[in-house]
Amino acid sequence: MPDQPVARLQHLALEVADLQRSVAFYRAFLGMKLTERHAAGENEAIPVALTFMRLGGRHHDLVLVHNPRKAYRDKPADPGQDLEGLPNFHHVAFECGSRKGWLAMLERAGELGLEIVRGPVVHSPWDPRGDGSWGENESFYVLDPDHHRIEIFCNMATIDQDGTFIGADGARIEAARAEEV
Ligand SMILES: [Fe+2]
Repeated sequence: MPDQPVARLQHLALEVADLQRSVAFYRAFLGMKLTERHAAGENEAIPVALTFMRLGGRHHDLVLVHNPRKAYRDKPADPGQDLEGLPNFHHVAFECGSRKGWLAMLERAGELGLEIVRGPVVHSPWDPRGDGSWGENESFYVLDPDHHRIEIFCNMATIDQDGTFIGADGARIEAARAEEV
């Protein structure tokens, strides 16, 4: 196997219409903390306002970006809808370390009055509880204040050395294989 210097996808920079509104949302829902915030133009190379939010010990996991010269409107609630032909990201997913944690997040979404726009669902063609979609992970989806679609999940399959999927219980799913190993 060739070297794979890139370990993972890490932070996301999300454009938002109202920084305070989004900071409040990501604090309340995901328990994120504010690391630092900077006004547009504070750094001459950066004409937008940046707010760095973190989940754990690293400086940022999420960057909220706001352009004060832009007239924002919310995205449609349905991510499949066309945004005037512009390529657009579909959703962003946050992983819970355990199913227990995932259930706690589901409860928190309810307490905050967030609409679950999809799920809870088991993304699986193999699990008897599955909806036929992919990844073996258990998920639910909400919208953030700008209607960015946020997925909260746990228990995504891992891929064994021969390409066979391994479920969260550690068992190989013999019929399920990655295209590329
Ligand atoms: Fe996803």
